[in-house]
Amino acid sequence: TKGNTARGTVTFTQKGDKVVVRADVTGLTPGGHGFHVHEKGDCSAPDGMSAGGHFNPGGHPHGHPHKGPHHAGDMPMLETDAYGNAKLVAVLPGLTFEGASGILGKGVIVHAAPDDFKTQPTGNAGARMACGVIVKR
Ligand code: CU
Ligand code: ZN
Repeated sequence: TKGNTARGTVTFTQKGDKVVVRADVTGLTPGGHGFHVHEKGDCSAPDGMSAGGHFNPGGHPHGHPHKGPHHAGDMPMLETDAYGNAKLVAVLPGLTFEGASGILGKGVIVHAAPDDFKTQPTGNAGARMACGVIVKR
């Protein structure tokens, strides 16, 4: 997004009946960064707001993907090293490639601040530093 240096690759793969995400992102400020699948695959706005809110086909509250109720698009946050590089591999319950909870054509957002996994409906993760669209390859 405008004014930010964050960039990287996020890959979703099918493993059995689950979706696994692999993220490799650089150019972040050191620390935690909220990381979600958002409802629209639209990165046209300079601030990334065109991607809409968190992908939430089930109408759930925001939360941690591995603890209790959560948006389908909620993912563990990115944690950087001292240089602002982040790597993440995580299983994502509740996401699929096809159907109502399908991620193809949706957005991916990396935020400026950590996700508290509590504040509704955003996790208080702040501005959007990077935006991507999920496409099939
Ligand atoms: Cu987000
Ligand atoms: Zn959420």
